This record gives sequence, structure tokens and C-alpha cells, in this order.
Amino acid sequence: MQLYRSITFVFTPAILTLAGLASSSDAFDGQSRRGSHVDRPNIKPHPLHPGKQFPHSPPRDASKYCFVKPSCSHIDDSPNILEAFQRCNHGGTVVFDATYIIASPLDLTFLDRVDVAILGTIGFNNNISYWTEHSFKYEYQNSSAMWRFGGKDVNIYGLGDGLIDGNGQAWYDAFAANPSLQRPILFVLDGLHGGSVSGLQMKNPPMWFNFIANSSEIVVSDIKLNVESTNGNPAKNTDGWDTYRSDSIVLQDSIINNGDDCVSFKPNSTNIVVQGLQCNGSHGISVGSLGQYINEFDIVENVYVYNISMSNASDGARIKVWPGSYTPFQPSLSGGGGSGYVMNVTYDGLYNSNNDWAIELTQCYGSTNLTLCNEYPSNMTISNVIFKNMWGTTSKKYDPKVGTLVCSTPSTCSNIRAQNITVQPPSGKPAQWICNNVNNTLLDINCVAQES
Ligand SMILES: *[C@@H]1O[C@H](CO)[C@@H](O)[C@H](O)[C@H]1NC(C)=O
Ligand SMILES: *[C@@H]1O[C@H](CO)[C@@H](O)[C@H](O)[C@H]1NC(C)=O
Ligand SMILES: *[C@@H]1O[C@H](CO)[C@@H](O)[C@H](O)[C@H]1NC(C)=O
Ligand SMILES: *[C@@H]1O[C@H](CO)[C@@H](O)[C@H](O)[C@H]1NC(C)=O
Ligand SMILES: *[C@@H]1O[C@H](CO)[C@@H](O)[C@H](O)[C@H]1NC(C)=O
Ligand SMILES: *[C@@H]1O[C@H](CO)[C@@H](O)[C@H](O)[C@H]1NC(C)=O
Ligand SMILES: *[C@@H]1O[C@H](CO)[C@@H](O)[C@H](O)[C@H]1NC(C)=O
Ligand SMILES: *[C@@H]1O[C@H](CO)[C@@H](O)[C@H](O)[C@H]1NC(C)=O
Ligand SMILES: *[C@@H]1O[C@H](CO)[C@@H](O)[C@H](O)[C@H]1NC(C)=O
Ligand SMILES: *[C@@H]1O[C@H](CO)[C@@H](O)[C@H](O)[C@H]1NC(C)=O
Ligand SMILES: *[C@@H]1O[C@H](CO)[C@@H](O)[C@H](O)[C@H]1NC(C)=O
Ligand SMILES: *[C@@H]1O[C@H](CO)[C@@H](O)[C@H](O)[C@H]1NC(C)=O
Repeated sequence: MQLYRSITFVFTPAILTLAGLASSSDAFDGQSRRGSHVDRPNIKPHPLHPGKQFPHSPPRDASKYCFVKPSCSHIDDSPNILEAFQRCNHGGTVVFDATYIIASPLDLTFLDRVDVAILGTIGFNNNISYWTEHSFKYEYQNSSAMWRFGGKDVNIYGLGDGLIDGNGQAWYDAFAANPSLQRPILFVLDGLHGGSVSGLQMKNPPMWFNFIANSSEIVVSDIKLNVESTNGNPAKNTDGWDTYRSDSIVLQDSIINNGDDCVSFKPNSTNIVVQGLQCNGSHGISVGSLGQYINEFDIVENVYVYNISMSNASDGARIKVWPGSYTPFQPSLSGGGGSGYVMNVTYDGLYNSNNDWAIELTQCYGSTNLTLCNEYPSNMTISNVIFKNMWGTTSKKYDPKVGTLVCSTPSTCSNIRAQNITVQPPSGKPAQWICNNVNNTLLDINCVAQES
């Protein structure tokens, strides 16, 4: 207890504005001058919102600030961080204004009315055997986390300065040798109801960047994601955001440089708005994959994707659903046979630059054999989907084809529409689309027969 007491302090605003006077042996050094402007930014869904008003987040107690002091040994700051959250929970602000390292699991799912200012850098120890054993484990896709946030009414903000560094290179190297290695997700919201995440930079996650699970009424805004391997071992599965069992989520105004889904709506994602993203190098904005687990029922409903700039991606707008039979796909990714539905999904305003497919809708995800896929139609239906207002140029990969909409039977897909799509292949030939088991009269695009 004595140890912890010397680690974090509660400061009054008067002291904050005089931060320069604090001695360096206290919780802050010269850097903490930033403490004088740790006001929470005003983050609102804009211009679209998922229907209902988000709850008001009252201002925090102006005398309750907990600066996290970095540990002297620079080995593990998890205990200091936990103590700061315990102290400033219920109305305070936790401030990270130095460089920290997380080397043991940090469970922050008990939060209540707390703000989190990340103005410095939070990094992670890359001891793979340690994390493989000690990370928080989730059943869904064997995912895991090194830390996680949950609770009620939490605003996490970086004001453009804060950096979360996954230190992923060791993981990329290890995964290249062992493709079933369980790698942790960089930033996990698990059971967070009401709040925001904004103004943060995140880099080099071991696996996905962000997982929003069991959560509701969250706005994510002004985030920069960047991943880069420094050698030939690729950074795999670096999804920007995955939503799961979550409702009323807004992702907006962010810049993403990654190598897998820019955003992915996983099972039970409802009332989601994604707007104002610039994605580069990704696999597009994706519904799914869904129908992966045979005894589960997956729902993706009421999703609006608006005003997206998509470059150098495999896909622009994507909906991927597994077939009706078990399908081995990759060493750590297989599935099929699960049931459920995708309903009321809109893609509105998507600029394509050098993407292989402008749109890819498939009920044969993971399957390379169309005959086999059609023999066991997907147990998931897709209905009331509209793709509209898309322009730009695809890559030359499938030129002159620019998109593909493949359902497993005419009855598993209904009311799939495409309007005002002017995407062109780079050759300048008339754009062609693969359409299979979809009602062509609702598609204002040049459908050609499926090649098998
Ligand atoms: C990694 O963690 C394990 C415990 O899980 C420990 O035995 C080992 O010494 C650590 N390796 C390094 C390089 O710190
Ligand atoms: C988790 O990983 C194990 C071992 O790689 C695999 O057998 C299992 O199917 C995976 N589970 C899920 C839910 O993906
Ligand atoms: C979500 O909630 C369920 C039920 O409480 C729990 O089992 C699971 O671990 C939570 N998180 C994720 C990512 O599934
Ligand atoms: C579209 O998103 C960009 C950011 O990528 C933003 O600057 C622009 O204002 C947005 N346009 C509309 C109409 O919302
Ligand atoms: C976009 O991604 C490509 C790889 O697909 C990369 O070469 C390029 O540097 C990225 N652009 C930016 C601005 O980072
Ligand atoms: C999704 O929600 C439905 C309806 O509440 C439920 O039956 C189903 O089990 C949920 N699926 C998952 C994967 O959580
Ligand atoms: C479809 O989803 C949009 C939001 O994306 C919502 O405004 C609309 O009410 C939904 N339609 C129905 C019929 O639920
Ligand atoms: C797409 O990739 C090319 C080549 O790698 C790169 O020059 C360009 O900047 C990328 N586009 C964006 C928007 O980053
Ligand atoms: C595809 O599946 C069908 C039906 O099961 C089978 O007859 C055929 O040999 C498969 N084709 C390939 C290339 O595996
Ligand atoms: C899934 O579909 C297959 C055929 O496509 C069918 O045999 C199976 O019963 C379905 N399973 C469920 C749970 O609906
Ligand atoms: C068609 O989409 C373009 C963007 O490619 C947009 O500028 C235009 O307003 C749209 N037209 C209609 C009639 O919605
Ligand atoms: C295709 O859509 C048109 C226009 O809504 C409708 O008249 C027709 O019945 C649909 N065809 C099928 C096979 O559903």
C-alpha cells in the first residue's frame, strides 16, 4: 500500500496549472505541463448517428486527477496503472503523460465515470511465451488481450499525441514460423457502455488493432492506425476495428494503414455507423465473416457505411459469409455451417483507388470450390443491402471485372441493390461485374455470367 501511495497522486487544478513547479521526484516531471490542458474533447457522432441519442457524459471532478507514474525499473507499469484507475474511478481523470510498458495483464473492466488522457506512449512487452500463457482469453476466434477496458461512461482520449505501441515485430516473426500462434489484440473494449475513444495513434499490433465486444453507445473518432513490418515477415490479421456483440457504435474520421479488414462487423453487430475513414492497404469495410460456427446464430443489422476513401485494398465494400458446410481455409481460420442473417446494410459514398474489387459479396467465404459451396448453401441469409454512390478505379488484378456478388442460392439473398456505381477498371474497358444468384434487375451495374 505504501508503495502504491507513492506512485500516483491526486492533484487539484491549481497545481495542474503550476505543473512546472513540481519537483521531478513527484508524479510528474516537466512533461506534465500538459496536465493543464487535459480537458476532454467534445466527441459527437457526425454527420450521421445510429438513431438514438447517446447518453450524456457529465464532466469529471476537477480535483480528481491521477497521473500514472512510470515505474523506476521500466519493467512493468501495470500495477501503477491499475492503482491509478482504482483511485480515480467514479468521477476522476487518469493521465498518462510519460512512457509506460505493460508487461502483465491489466483488467480495467470495472470502470465507472472515468476519463483517461493518454498523452504519452503506452507500449507492451513482447515476451511471446509469457503473453500466450497470461493474456485474457476469449472463445471467439481464439482471440486474446493484454489489457481491456469495460464498465460505464469512459472517455479515452489522446488529443492527437497519445500513442499505443503494440511492439508487434516479434509477433510477426513468430507467427511466420508458427501460423497457429495466438496473438493478442492491441486495444480491447469488453463490456463498455457509454463513452468514447479519440485522438489516439496506434501502431504495430500483434494481431487486430481494436476489438469492441459486449459494448454499446461508443463513439470512436480521430484515430490513426499504422502497421509496418521491418522485414519480410508480414504483419497479418491487423484489422482496424472489429465489432462483436455490440450495439450503437460509431467509428469516424480516422486514418488507417493496415493489411486486413479496415473495419469488420462480426457476429451481433447492430446499429453501427462508420463514416469519414481513409483506409489504405486493407481488406475493405467488411460485414463478417459470419456463419463460421455451426451452433451459433449471427446477426448484423442496421449498418450504415458512409463517406469512405479506400485505397490499395483487396476490397472496398465487402460482405463475407461462410458456406453451409465445414470449410478449412487457413491454418487458424476455418468454419462454415453457422446460421443467422445480415439485414439492412448500406454502403453510401465510397471512393475506390487501386482496390481489387470495389464490391465483394460472397456466401462462399473460405471456399475455393463453387460447386461444393452451392451444394451446401449458406445457412445465413443476406437481405436489404444497398451499395450506392461509388466511384474511382480498381486495380488491374481482375480488369475489366470490378466487383463480384455471389450468393449460394437465389433464396438465401434478397433485395440486394446497387445504384449509381461508376467504378472503372484501369484499362478503360466497360466495367464488368460477376453476379450469381442475385436479382439482376435490382443491380444498376453490368452483370456478366459467373465463371467457374
Ligand atoms: C518470458 O516470460 C517467461 C515467463 O512466462 C520467463 O520465464 C522468461 O524469462 C521471459 N523471457 C524474457 C526474455 O524476459
Ligand atoms: C482455437 O485454436 C485451436 C488450436 O489452434 C483450434 O483447434 C480451435 O478450433 C480454435 N477455436 C476457434 C473457436 O477458432
Ligand atoms: C463478452 O461477454 C461474454 C458473456 O459475459 C463473455 O463470456 C465474453 O468473454 C465477453 N467478451 C468477449 C470478447 O466475448
Ligand atoms: C468525408 O470524410 C472526410 C474525411 O475522410 C471529411 O473531410 C469530409 O468532410 C467528409 N465529408 C462528408 C460529406 O461528410
Ligand atoms: C498505403 O499502402 C501501401 C501498401 O499497400 C504502402 O506502400 C503505402 O506506403 C501506404 N501509403 C501510405 C500513405 O502510408
Ligand atoms: C446473437 O443474438 C441472438 C439474438 O439475441 C442470439 O440468439 C445469438 O445467440 C447471438 N449470437 C452471438 C454469436 O452472440
Ligand atoms: C436500417 O438502418 C438504418 C441505419 O443504418 C436505420 O436508420 C433504419 O431505420 C433501418 N431500417 C429499418 C427498417 O430498420
Ligand atoms: C497506394 O499505394 C501506392 C503505392 O504503394 C502509394 O503510392 C499510395 O500513396 C497509396 N495510396 C494511399 C492513399 O495511401
Ligand atoms: C469441387 O466439389 C465437387 C463437389 O463436391 C467435386 O466433385 C469436385 O471434384 C471439386 N473440385 C475440386 C477442384 O476440388
Ligand atoms: C445448414 O445448411 C445445410 C445445407 O446447406 C443443412 O444440411 C444444415 O441442416 C443447415 N444447418 C442449420 C443449423 O441450419
Ligand atoms: C452518384 O455518386 C456520385 C459520387 O460518385 C455523387 O457525386 C452523385 O451525387 C451521385 N448521384 C446521385 C444521383 O446520387
Ligand atoms: C427481382 O426484382 C424485381 C423488381 O423488384 C421483382 O419484380 C422480381 O420479382 C424479382 N425477381 C425475383 C426472382 O425475386
